[in-house]
Amino acid sequence: MPSYRPPKIASSEITPRQVYMGRREFLGTAALGAMALYGAGKASAAALTAVESKYTVDDKLTPLKDVTSYNNFYEFGLDKADPAALSGDFKPMPWTIKVDGMVNKPGTFDLEALMKEFPIESRTYRMRCVEAWSMVIPWEGFPLASLLSKAEPLGSAKYVAFETVVRPEEMPGQKGIFQSLEWPYVEGLRIDEANHPLALLAVGLYGETLPNQNGAPIRLVVPWKYGFKGIKSIVRITLTDKEPKNTWQVTNPQEYGFYANVNPAVDHPRWSQATERRIGESGFFGASRHPTLPFNGYADEVASLYTGMDLKANF
Ligand code: MTE
Repeated sequence: MPSYRPPKIASSEITPRQVYMGRREFLGTAALGAMALYGAGKASAAALTAVESKYTVDDKLTPLKDVTSYNNFYEFGLDKADPAALSGDFKPMPWTIKVDGMVNKPGTFDLEALMKEFPIESRTYRMRCVEAWSMVIPWEGFPLASLLSKAEPLGSAKYVAFETVVRPEEMPGQKGIFQSLEWPYVEGLRIDEANHPLALLAVGLYGETLPNQNGAPIRLVVPWKYGFKGIKSIVRITLTDKEPKNTWQVTNPQEYGFYANVNPAVDHPRWSQATERRIGESGFFGASRHPTLPFNGYADEVASLYTGMDLKANF
């Protein structure tokens, strides 16, 4: 059974990670020039220089090709292959994020400046989708708490609401008569969840800036929650005192709730959540199945956020 690995300083000894870290160090020297290209609006990925974080698991990484070709990003279509195939026209840079609502210092922040201001960390996290598949992804990013503290949330702010960009001209899933979801895609966290050190704003994966299909140029990663909480291509973050609705909860409140903590003991109405299919791994009967862990294996870090709460009622 995979388990959360305690803080570490040295790079992982695991071969795939070593290979990728080595490649990243090499690419690191070209990072500045590559960043300039990205800044000019090119869709191509640029190398990121990052420091190792203690918040890392040493599970076997999901291959890059699976991480970037098996996606949920309905703004580009409903099929898992659509985001990679149909996101070529999306322009992730330049990019700004507005932080507003119950804060002392609202503002619109330039992403490239934020990426210089906050140290970029590399963190390998498990990702468990509510559809009962999972991956292990090496992200680059900075803590959500770093950005929130810049805006100085008021004591009365209890929740954080997020919004994805709306650009029908660049996002084919937002165009036409048939709309799969209401736009913008929205999400929310309680403020203590948002300030938890595991809550990451990812700007890259596998050592390079985020591919469009994974939520370029900045998306949320909250590894103890189902993947749909990881809202992509964020343009706005609002501090509020009311529990914000999220897109899947609005679409189907019987099946999706606000918390969406990974929980093998609470089944989805239409399928079991006890096990998961690890994408990119093959077993005797196809992709190998793993037991799903409470809070996706991050219980030691986050279970205390929910002390005394009925996790069946607050699904
Ligand atoms: N964010 C937006 N804006 N639109 C989406 O359709 N899908 C969510 C989440 N974030 C989604 C989104 C779902 S259901 C999952 S499982 C993850 O993104 C998938 O992330 P990945 O494609 O990088 O694996």
